[in-house]
Amino acid sequence: MARKAKTQQDEIFTLRLQRSAPDLWPMLEALYGSHPDYTGFCDRLLTALHSAWAARPADLRRLDLHRDLEPDWFQRPDRAGYVFYIDRFAGSLRNVLDKLDYLQELGITYVHLMPCLKPRPGDSDGGYSVMDYRAINPDLGTMEDLEQVASALRDRGMNLCIDLVLNHTAKEHAWAEAARAGDPAYQDYYLMFDSPELPNRFEETLVEVFPDNAPGNFTHDPSTDKWVWTTFNDHQWDLNWANPQVFLEVTEIMLFLANRGVDVLRLDAVAFMWKRMGTRCQSEPEVHMLLQALRACCRIACPAVLHLEEAIVAPAEMLPYLGRGRHDGKEGNLAYHNSLMVQFWNALATRDTRMMTHVLRTHFPATLTNATYATYIRCHDDIGWAITDEDAGVFGISGPAHRAWLADFYEGQAPGSFARGRLFQENPLTGDKRISGSFAALAGLEKAVNEGDGPAAETAVQRILLGHALIASFGGIPLIYMGDELAMLNDHSYLSVPEHAHDSRWVHRPRMDWALAAAREGDSPSARCFQGLRHILAHRRAVAELHGGVPTVVLVPPVPGLFAVARRGPARTVLCLFNFTDGWLHVPEGWLRAEGMQQLYDELSEAQVTLHDGGLSLPPQGRVWLV
Ligand code: GLC
Repeated sequence: MARKAKTQQDEIFTLRLQRSAPDLWPMLEALYGSHPDYTGFCDRLLTALHSAWAARPADLRRLDLHRDLEPDWFQRPDRAGYVFYIDRFAGSLRNVLDKLDYLQELGITYVHLMPCLKPRPGDSDGGYSVMDYRAINPDLGTMEDLEQVASALRDRGMNLCIDLVLNHTAKEHAWAEAARAGDPAYQDYYLMFDSPELPNRFEETLVEVFPDNAPGNFTHDPSTDKWVWTTFNDHQWDLNWANPQVFLEVTEIMLFLANRGVDVLRLDAVAFMWKRMGTRCQSEPEVHMLLQALRACCRIACPAVLHLEEAIVAPAEMLPYLGRGRHDGKEGNLAYHNSLMVQFWNALATRDTRMMTHVLRTHFPATLTNATYATYIRCHDDIGWAITDEDAGVFGISGPAHRAWLADFYEGQAPGSFARGRLFQENPLTGDKRISGSFAALAGLEKAVNEGDGPAAETAVQRILLGHALIASFGGIPLIYMGDELAMLNDHSYLSVPEHAHDSRWVHRPRMDWALAAAREGDSPSARCFQGLRHILAHRRAVAELHGGVPTVVLVPPVPGLFAVARRGPARTVLCLFNFTDGWLHVPEGWLRAEGMQQLYDELSEAQVTLHDGGLSLPPQGRVWLV
């Protein structure tokens, strides 16, 4: 009996290997084929895949089968994510269990625990400087706790996402320690140079990620007297992905975490994984080959697991992370829709939706294969004003000037600004200024509260709900960043924490305000945001056309200041309309009819729409999902 079961499991493995072999081996051959130990590497990889499958718990294998049968599970409109730092939200991993009712009440079905693997001591870039990928940060709990959280989530039909940093390790990681001790095999895990000559040549075309507090892309390591590639902070050593051993090690880690019950691996900073002299060393073709190969490994040994690729880059550069061209359907299942986020803020500040419409219409396809966006308005990072000079040029404005104006606006400096953000990493060389700040602070609530301005607070609430309704209907998994469901304001206490004071991103990484949460049925701005979001997510679940696989067609709106998206399902179209202005908009009936709207029923408010003067009147910051 047992033998029969084993044979069956082996057969499933073999079939999955056959399925994904064409996605895997050609990539590895192209990346590593000329390496002297290529054959040995392939054998070891196959063994690693097989051992991971053999060790995969029975309930997760069942999930694998389930998701093989329902591959669109993550695109369905019942998926909605919530992202938080474990300590700031719940204190510890175990305490997360007590908070699941709260999340479920909000309509959350996907939980992203911000970095929870063991970080280096002291400043760890919010946990993105990992010294042990097989251990949980001891301040948060243990690997057993993580497994318990994973299984509690599974019991509730919720998914677990955790971060896996692929571009770098902490300099305290065992591999880096061995490299520092002089072991050449481990030195080859990183990019270490004997003299500054090559680093200087690379620098000519590299950009600065943290120009303020970590300028330059290389750090001199005194113990080896070598220059180490450190794109981010000096304690984050970039991995050498040209070394097949790095691929093997990371795959083993990925499968290890998958077998703990993780559903989604958020692959951090993937754009930087491949270096090429004379380029920005971002989004090189090899990055996509690596990511397709890593994806294939999961499809073979743990197909229930998805990849969320974090690449915060220009629109045209971002799409390939969801698989374009020869990688179509084979790369990331999810990637952040950074442009949607930037364009939301752009339209909110300008009250003009033309650039938003142009960018989202021309740079993004209506459908993706086996993939969907992670849609969001705020995350734990800063906002970079990713608007290209070309896109600004279409409207006759200067890219640099517009980006600078947006930064000033959201810092609260430009005339008429409602926002209260903080500068992040101003680069005097390029003039680039990024912005930190919570959703509510950037949307005007902080200023309104400080000034005791009731009507302005109401407008801010409507801006926040406009954003939530947008990311819930555009197509993709909407991700709510902790506190934004309650319109939490900026937290300036980071300035007195030595390892955070240099990094203004901590202004929007507050501790969860459970007192505010307890008052969520009231009528404060924060309670109304909570109730509004809960309503949006509940209605999203009920509208089949909001499935990620249903085409998202961005329309040219009939009136300025309106943003219009048609979700064209097989049976009917849902027309999602958003008013980005501070006045009423009049949407002509003729246009609505021409877009196929027969009943004029709003799925969001569950009400029939009454027309006035031959059109639909949409209040300031109003939004409807019409059928
Ligand atoms: C990602 C993270 C960011 C971190 C960086 C380096 O961009 O989101 O918080 O600083 O990677 O790991």
